Amino acid sequence: MKLIELYAKMKKDISYIEKELERSIDTDHAMLRETSVHLLKAGGKRIRPIFVLLGAKFGTYDLTRVKHVAVSLELIHMASLVHDDVIDDAETRRGQLTVRSKWDNRVAMFTGDYIFAKALHVATGLGNPAIHQTLSKAILEMSIGEMEQIRLFFNAEQTLRDYLLRIRRKTALLIAISCQLGAIAADADEWVSNRLYSFGYNVGMAFQIRDDLLDLCGTEKEIGKPPGSDIRQGNITIPVIYALREPGLRVPLMQELRKIQEADGQIDVSRFIGLIRGSQGIRQAEELANRYIDKAIAVLHSLPDIQAKKDLIGVAHFIGNRSY
Ligand code: IPE
Ligand code: IPE
Ligand code: MG
Ligand code: MG
Repeated sequence: MKLIELYAKMKKDISYIEKELERSIDTDHAMLRETSVHLLKAGGKRIRPIFVLLGAKFGTYDLTRVKHVAVSLELIHMASLVHDDVIDDAETRRGQLTVRSKWDNRVAMFTGDYIFAKALHVATGLGNPAIHQTLSKAILEMSIGEMEQIRLFFNAEQTLRDYLLRIRRKTALLIAISCQLGAIAADADEWVSNRLYSFGYNVGMAFQIRDDLLDLCGTEKEIGKPPGSDIRQGNITIPVIYALREPGLRVPLMQELRKIQEADGQIDVSRFIGLIRGSQGIRQAEELANRYIDKAIAVLHSLPDIQAKKDLIGVAHFIGNRSY
């Protein structure tokens, strides 16, 4: 399935959520309005709201209730990206200037804070403290994930387990709760929302592995930012962790890593990327992403055979092969 086909099918509901997103960030403060609107208009796949809507189809689907969760989750995602771009010194995202490069780091930090606050505010609309708690916990975990990433920058000794724990926190949990909270907001059975959580978790792990592969193998046009951004920053991702295990590659990779670190990322990283692309690490990472996708789809097995289940499987396949 192509994501575009799903957008077309869900067009009415997605446009409604888009309008609600616009409404949610509205403010009298001119600068916050400008930065938030800039963020929103830069686009993005809106994959988290899509998961919320599909999850809600397993219960009593009521868009006026589910919207609170869908909007809140996309806002949390957006806020984390503005902050992430500060950490990563990123100039562009989604093919547009980042808030930090159009304005500056301080403006980006407060824009992120503002949007995080709005996300929690929107969620109060459901009057369900458990949902609020789940959302706050996700924000907490994301912060730990990002801190762990910084702690392990340029650390070639880090293990696969370090990596998996980190991406679980920074990416997979948010996608897991997107699927779960959609179902909870629609009063679906608890066993159903638990399954959806597990589906989202596995898809989320694959999502970040694919993201990390794209940073090494994608083109600027596909990913909306220059490839190699991760390693310039010192972020050692899964293909690199695998490649470092290859006897003939470890020494040259360590040499390149040292050069990149000494230059603070401000050098040509094409030799490093070439070494990774020529390693087994790419294929091994792809295989792991595929295993997570297979697991996600298997989790759905016992759920009722409604159209949303087919759509979730479609999105999982999209994520398993995604090039943007
Ligand atoms: C980017 O997420 C950050 C990661 C968790 C990998 P998305 O790829 O969902 O970003 P947008 O919203 O579509 O730009
Ligand atoms: C996802 O990781 C960031 C968050 C979960 C906040 P990345 O750092 O890989 O995201 P991109 O590649 O900048 O979009
Ligand atoms: Mg980043
Ligand atoms: Mg990335």
